[in-house]
Amino acid sequence: MFDFKYFTPTKVVFGKNTESKVADLIKEFGGTKILIHYGGGSVVRSGLLKRVTDTLDAAGISYVTLGGAVPNPHLGLVYEGIELCKKENVDFLLAVGGGSAIDSAKAIGYGLANEGDVWDFYDYKRKATGCVPFGVILTIAATGSEMSDSSVITKEEGLVKRGYSSDFGRPKFAIMNPELTMTLPDYQTACGCTDIMMHTMERYFTQGGNMEITDALAEGLLRTVKKNAVILRDDPKNYDARAEVMWAGSLAHNGLTGCGNDGGDWMTHKLEHELGGLYDVAHGAGLAAIWGSWARYVYKNCLPRFKKFALNVMEVENTGTDEEIALRGIEALEDFYRSINMPTNLRELGVNPTEEELALMAKKCAIGVGGEMGSARVLNEADMLAIYKASV
Ligand code: NZQ
Ligand code: ZN
Repeated sequence: MFDFKYFTPTKVVFGKNTESKVADLIKEFGGTKILIHYGGGSVVRSGLLKRVTDTLDAAGISYVTLGGAVPNPHLGLVYEGIELCKKENVDFLLAVGGGSAIDSAKAIGYGLANEGDVWDFYDYKRKATGCVPFGVILTIAATGSEMSDSSVITKEEGLVKRGYSSDFGRPKFAIMNPELTMTLPDYQTACGCTDIMMHTMERYFTQGGNMEITDALAEGLLRTVKKNAVILRDDPKNYDARAEVMWAGSLAHNGLTGCGNDGGDWMTHKLEHELGGLYDVAHGAGLAAIWGSWARYVYKNCLPRFKKFALNVMEVENTGTDEEIALRGIEALEDFYRSINMPTNLRELGVNPTEEELALMAKKCAIGVGGEMGSARVLNEADMLAIYKASV
């Protein structure tokens, strides 16, 4: 077991109609002039944005709005948001939406609280010394950005998708009403479940420091999401399943399932970020498409964990060699992906890269991780290329 720090300062307000508490929460955290930041319009169509602005109007809190955060959110809108907030003297940000709106708000917050170009943080040139306080009303269970320290932004020039992590990037509050996720397309629900599981699996497939309690939490979380993803496939309005998945999404990425281990592998995410940057695919689907190829490439280097995963999460038969059990676990997870209509390779993802594009992604990925990275197995550019090729 390794030493660890666990910091989850976000106040979570969970349940039906909790968005009605937004004005009280903003006041509690000192917001007086708000930027409401959202995505492509689902919150307009669902009526959520109107309910939020009505609540702020009634409480006498002034605000400006900025929509347009796209999946794989763009740096250009971040710059726009920073300028708008400066002009309007905004002192608190409210993201209403999914990971993209939240991450874009985080970047705006960094840009306001720090001098210079905000991209520097995502380009690993320097570290932020603060972030304007912000809260979240979550509309999709997926990234865990509502409690995580991360934000992921795409620079349009060169299609470079990069993440930046800092404790300043943790929201002051997160309002989570599972009912708000009921308007999601089935595909996005499944993408979300995949991402949630992957945040736990990235921390699970490691080379050391594993704690029994952390493993038990991780395996329980994975089994819960696996079960409820199938319930939601057949019954998308099932409140309890929505709630299970939503809370799992936060716990999967607030650090809980990383306590005591070596921090995790994260290479499936890094490989996916290149797909998201270049082809603008949904993050969860991109992860599902690449994971099997990654797993088959690394499992022999991390056999005890793959065997444990196969038995305790995928609940495969405990017969044969460790390698056979591990491979059965990988196949079982791919069968699960297919059962919720997630892709298990790039073709099923709808992406058909040329040899040059595969090489470009491997190169950008290697640059993005500083040469090599991974815990289950350390991967360099040649390994990354081999995994991309195996996933075509
Ligand atoms: O943009 P709108 O119109 O709101 O539509 C969105 C979008 O099309 C739609 N949607 C969201 N809630 C809805 C809804 N449609 C109907 N009803 C609702 N209630 O769903 C689509 C996806 O939304 P998005 O916010 O892009 O999804 P997600 O939460 O999966 O975020 C993805 C982004 O987060 C990054 C990903 O790389 C990607 O850029 N990540 C962020 C992380 C973090 N900050 O900790 C960690 C993750 O690993 C991930 O990398
Ligand atoms: Zn993710």
